[in-house]
Amino acid sequence: MTTELISLVVNGEAHQVLVKPNWTLLDVLRDELNLTGTKRGCDTGCCGACTVIVDGKTVNSCLMLAMKADGRNILTIEGLARGDKLHPIQEAFIEKGALQCGFCTPGMVLSAKALLDENPSPTEEDIKTAIAGNLCRCTGYIQIIEAIQAAARNLAGSASRR
Ligand code: FES
Ligand code: FES
Repeated sequence: MTTELISLVVNGEAHQVLVKPNWTLLDVLRDELNLTGTKRGCDTGCCGACTVIVDGKTVNSCLMLAMKADGRNILTIEGLARGDKLHPIQEAFIEKGALQCGFCTPGMVLSAKALLDENPSPTEEDIKTAIAGNLCRCTGYIQIIEAIQAAARNLAGSASRR
């Protein structure tokens, strides 16, 4: 099988990776770059556990061929915290008890991040729409929605204090 060298920026760091035509972005992130915060759930685009942000939009990384990620800018869950300081969305998930096993959490948090970047004051319906592709089998969605609402308030508060 032929391979191709792709260049991508992940969490602000430039990488070059030799990929096979059948590899997905999820394969590259987890198996080549060792960024295992992005989870492999269904591997068929149904669960959202593999959600990452590509050029500002959420993508199921299990559905994106690695070669299509050439030249793209990717944010994974590992890119959110600043050293020991968690991102306000991550803090809100903890504060609201919005996770149990945590398997869906990286994808949920990144869907929330993409939403709040685009729409800092989402309605409950906006939040439900944003996380519609992210399945959670154990926490349920009430605390997750509350966490995203709390993160929106906290982010708005810190922006107005600047
Ligand atoms: S692992 Fe990609 S959507 Fe489930
Ligand atoms: S916290 Fe377990 S699947 Fe969501």
